[in-house]
Amino acid sequence: MIKELHLKNWKSFDSGTLFIDPLSILIGTNASGKSNILDAFLLLYRLSWGKQILSSVNGDNELSPIRGGLDWIVRKGESECELQILTGNDHSEIDYRYTIGIRRTNGTRFELCNEVLESIHKRQRSDAKAKTLFNTKDDSIETPFIPAYFSSATQGRGKRLDMNRSFSILSQIETMGVRSEIKEAGSSVLNELRNIFILDPIPNHMRIFSKLSDRLQSDAANIAGVLAALPENKKKEVETILTNYISHLPEKDIIKIWSETVGLFNTDAMLYCKEQWTDSETLDIDARGMSDGTLRFLAIITALMTVKEHSLLIVEEIDNGLHPSRATKLVEMLKELGSKYHIDILCTTHNPALLDAFGNSMIPFISYIHRNKNNGCSNVTLLEDFEMLPKLMAAGTIGGLMTNGSLEQSLERSENNE
Ligand SMILES: Nc1ncnc2c1ncn2[C@@H]1O[C@H](COP(=O)(O)OP(=O)(O)OP(=O)(O)O)[C@@H](O)[C@H]1O
Ligand SMILES: [Mg+2]
Repeated sequence: MIKELHLKNWKSFDSGTLFIDPLSILIGTNASGKSNILDAFLLLYRLSWGKQILSSVNGDNELSPIRGGLDWIVRKGESECELQILTGNDHSEIDYRYTIGIRRTNGTRFELCNEVLESIHKRQRSDAKAKTLFNTKDDSIETPFIPAYFSSATQGRGKRLDMNRSFSILSQIETMGVRSEIKEAGSSVLNELRNIFILDPIPNHMRIFSKLSDRLQSDAANIAGVLAALPENKKKEVETILTNYISHLPEKDIIKIWSETVGLFNTDAMLYCKEQWTDSETLDIDARGMSDGTLRFLAIITALMTVKEHSLLIVEEIDNGLHPSRATKLVEMLKELGSKYHIDILCTTHNPALLDAFGNSMIPFISYIHRNKNNGCSNVTLLEDFEMLPKLMAAGTIGGLMTNGSLEQSLERSENNE
């Protein structure tokens, strides 16, 4: 799993560290930098699939640009930015640290200027004990190639290969002639990055008939096709769980959710639900008639149950469209399904009702994103690291503190003392 993300000169951040747990929440006022953090995951995901650095940032025929594209990836006034992740799991003795630095050249291009993969034995977790598996030396800015050094089993700087600056080295490691230790480490990190799933459900896109499919799209447009293509047993399991969580969303019950194929050739599918508004009558409706909040909620549950195990599911404004009285249901669902299907969840929210529904036990997993008033840069602060938190909490809940601005004021006070 990805355990940490470090940002350097990335968008509004001069530097920042985000810790990732099974359920992590980002809060902060508008333009504080929450989505900027999520954009970093999108870039890492694209690079892991071997996409060119420039098209990953700026988009191409298949990809949309990362928000702001080329002009807004690197912090204003700087020319290079760096992303670093730490990956690992409870069963393995080794964590991996992967760093990629990219820079903008002559206003129109993006290229690799630094890349490092290290292994860290957990029992010896300190920088001195990190072992470099490969790194780069950026000694010639003019050339399209960057010298990369792959560690040897014994001593010395290792084998030098000149790599194309347009792609990440990591994305090419599986097909390169390097030692198995380096290949294994590279595959492990690539696997974590490729398991990032950014979900941005768009209810209107979900209302259409969709092709049978084994992978949910990021806008969840093919939700019906994904459900209908599941093997019979899994389909039953998923539809039962969908029905259980969704049933109490409206005032009266939704008593069944299902998807089925349509047409002569059964290549497309539609999502249906059975609603019960009075004791004696039920109403079957298809996705075209379902509410926006219902469809978004269904998309999140479906993602949790159908993305690959050990994925990192990222959802912006996770409670968007959900009535505040249903916040507890959402929290229950995220905790239960995340742990059952081994999915880490990273989400943003502006909703005080949701923060209160998370309860105090979630405080260690809430990060507050804030613009430092001394330099204007975004900072990440864990809520539990707020000096005044116990005192603040005596006066109200986390949701209440967010609403009345006490969290902001508390950070401003510490910045005044800097
Ligand atoms: N390259 C850059 N250099 C400096 N600042 C930047 C850069 N790119 C973006 N920003 C800052 O980031 C802000 C947008 O941040 P972001 O979209 O992450 O906000 P957010 O916390 O998601 O807000 P909201 O809750 O409204 O969605 C911009 O207003 C701008 O100030
Ligand atoms: Mg945002």
